[in-house]
Amino acid sequence: MQLTMIGTGYVGLVSGVCFSDFGHDVICVDKLPEKIEALDRGEVPIYEPGLDAMMAKNVANGRLKFTLDLKDAVAAAEAVFIAVGTPTRRGDGHADLTYVYDAARDIARALKGYTVIVTKSTVPVGTNREVERVIRAENPDADFDVSSNPEFLREGAAIEDFMRPDRVVVGVQSERAKAVMAKIYRPLALREAPIVYTDLESAEMIKYAANAFLATKITFINEIANLCEKVGANIQSVSKGMGMDNRIGGKFLHAGPGYGGSCFPKDTKALARIGQEHASPVSIVETVIKINEERKRQMIDKIMYLCGDKVRAKKIAVLGVTFKPNTDDMRDSPSLTIIPALVGAGADVHVVDPQGRKEGEELLPSVTWVEDVYEAVAGAEAVVVLTEWNEFRALDLKRLAGLMKDAKMADLRNIYDPAEAKEAGFEYVSIGR
Ligand code: UDX
Repeated sequence: MQLTMIGTGYVGLVSGVCFSDFGHDVICVDKLPEKIEALDRGEVPIYEPGLDAMMAKNVANGRLKFTLDLKDAVAAAEAVFIAVGTPTRRGDGHADLTYVYDAARDIARALKGYTVIVTKSTVPVGTNREVERVIRAENPDADFDVSSNPEFLREGAAIEDFMRPDRVVVGVQSERAKAVMAKIYRPLALREAPIVYTDLESAEMIKYAANAFLATKITFINEIANLCEKVGANIQSVSKGMGMDNRIGGKFLHAGPGYGGSCFPKDTKALARIGQEHASPVSIVETVIKINEERKRQMIDKIMYLCGDKVRAKKIAVLGVTFKPNTDDMRDSPSLTIIPALVGAGADVHVVDPQGRKEGEELLPSVTWVEDVYEAVAGAEAVVVLTEWNEFRALDLKRLAGLMKDAKMADLRNIYDPAEAKEAGFEYVSIGR
């Protein structure tokens, strides 16, 4: 099929590349010339394992193209995907839909023949109907349907999640549109990936409710971890014991410094707003948002406590700044709260992160970036594990302790065993243990 993807950000690029790998002909459109020029040079703007190879392969076989020309790309397409950003609007926490409606108007003016306009960006419930109204107003004669097709891609595992999804969610309002969507996802259907067909509003709600539930699950185990510290329980055993109940499941039950990323913070805020707007508050999610913010302060207190409540002129090594491993994304990362607080208290912070420096450099101006962990900890009073990159999981703890001025470790991702850390000479604090 001929598909067009509007937006070459995280969702648009990954989806466009994967659709072309299905065998569809895909044109990815962006407004920014420098983005299209970089993509045409084969440069992938995000760190996503495997994406560059898959992109190069499909560009080479002519199934994947990049262009600034939305008009031609839309005219040629049987389905046009809106995959533009829907950032949290400053102030009111609403999802900013400016780019979505701008794209809808641009698409409306370029439509030729029956086309399905598919919103893949995460949008508040009711947005797809509004997209339909916007297109109808812009081009009353257009022959089209809209469809809601939210993505469930985890950064660092996006291709895996696209190619082997737990399910595909498709909101449609006509058999015609359903047939087009079924054809688009036929390669996955052949692999028995379940496709949930539903109405537009339910498809939109599934996305928000799923992300908010995952954020809630993480926040729940984070609070249980706090209590474990008080009563002397071990959160890793608690998670394991809970997770064996298949009604709960073991995933997303790992206590840490709080969730970050470009989705959970944005989607929980947007869902809370939708609840407030409709006088049906999702108060659990409102509480989750508050707890997650407060947790970052708790992590700062934990580190300060480890350092005797004084970090002025002390060197502190921080391992990991991205919001999770296998990504270069820093959006809403706990490090963006924790590190400035340490710097503000006078600490001399040295940072190691396999992928974080690219974005982190301007977000964390007053830290020293170091490639090697052992160099970063030399002479340090404390080392803080903030992101569980594999590179940090098998360090020589004895050597690490020997290099430090004070062998103190705040392991905020529980990657080490307390007994081993203590045996290596560390004064060691972690999460829920
Ligand atoms: C998430 C959803 O998983 C994905 O389905 C959706 O499409 C986009 O948002 P992502 O934000 O890329 O994906 O990362 P994810 O792996 O979900 O982690 C989100 C945050 O939760 C990270 O900060 C991570 O460190 C944290 N987390 C995750 C925990 O603290 N504990 C866990 O057990 C799992």
